[in-house]
Amino acid sequence: MKEQLLNLKTEALNRLKECNDNADIEKIRIQYLGKKGELTAILRSMGSLPEEERPEAGKLANEVRALIEEAIQSAKEAVHERESEKRLKKETLDITMPGRYPEIGRRHPLMRVKEELESVFMRMGYDVIGGPEIETVANNFDDLNTPYDHPSRDWSDTFYISDNLVLRTHTSPVEIRVMKEAVREGKLPIRMVSTGRTFRFDDVDDTHSPMFHQMECLVVDKGVTMANLKDSIDQFVKELFGSKVKTRFRPHNFPFTEPSAEVDVSCHICMGKGCPACSGTGWSMELLGCGMTHPNVLRNCGLDPEIYSGYAFGMGIDRVAMVKYGIPNIRLLFENDVRFLKQF
Ligand code: DAH
Repeated sequence: MKEQLLNLKTEALNRLKECNDNADIEKIRIQYLGKKGELTAILRSMGSLPEEERPEAGKLANEVRALIEEAIQSAKEAVHERESEKRLKKETLDITMPGRYPEIGRRHPLMRVKEELESVFMRMGYDVIGGPEIETVANNFDDLNTPYDHPSRDWSDTFYISDNLVLRTHTSPVEIRVMKEAVREGKLPIRMVSTGRTFRFDDVDDTHSPMFHQMECLVVDKGVTMANLKDSIDQFVKELFGSKVKTRFRPHNFPFTEPSAEVDVSCHICMGKGCPACSGTGWSMELLGCGMTHPNVLRNCGLDPEIYSGYAFGMGIDRVAMVKYGIPNIRLLFENDVRFLKQF
């Protein structure tokens, strides 16, 4: 038995030395020390020995057991050490490596112009109001006094969703919503601007897009005059393009205003002297349409034109962004090429 125990010890210790992982170690533990293990079997058979041999054999068996347990422990530690070394090597950090810079977004030039316009008007005491992009034909045309045979109503100019619904062709229907609500809720006078997307059945070219952006302005009160209109437009154009810029009002015609005008802005390159950019005229940009709110429009919203008057204007803000940032082609605003957008 003594020899058997010594052989078993040598064999177990040698095998443990060669173990590479915990699974191997566990297998060996079971093989020798498990319930049905070899050493366990020897310990069990101890009873069959002659009485005088038992103490010595028992002592030896316990020593062997302790030795194997110890060897198992150190084999486990060796495996653990080897594995953490391997892991450390794999996770080595090269602290000299340049970092990865997160791409940080910027405001789109159009949104910058929109926000700048809104804040100019907020400073002047106007409310900033939103409106839906899908509008009723009533708000988009009828209540704005647009004749039934007006070309802007044509299916070839306007995106109709149904007989009564369109993608709004301008931001002017927000005026109708605001006036009706003001009458309903007794919230007069009105001083508001509204910016947003508008849609027309246009082919894409350098200056046109079927989706574009407008800003609408409406002021309704007792005693509002054309002088107020001219003054506020002049004021905000100077805020937007600088104090040297001049405005020019040309008579025009819109169904919803009477009288109506278009406003030009002096050329920002030659400051009105005349240059190739403005074809020598000194005037570069047809900025907006405006006028005194038509009495029919006031009436359609429940306002008495004998008591209240109003002025309004509507402006394409894509064009403002293009002039302000020298962008030659409207497509650049909507293609969302980050190389272009990063420049602003
Ligand atoms: N809604 C007009 C357009 O599309 C612009 C406009 C003209 C708006 C005169 C107004 C206005 O409020 O008074 O193009």
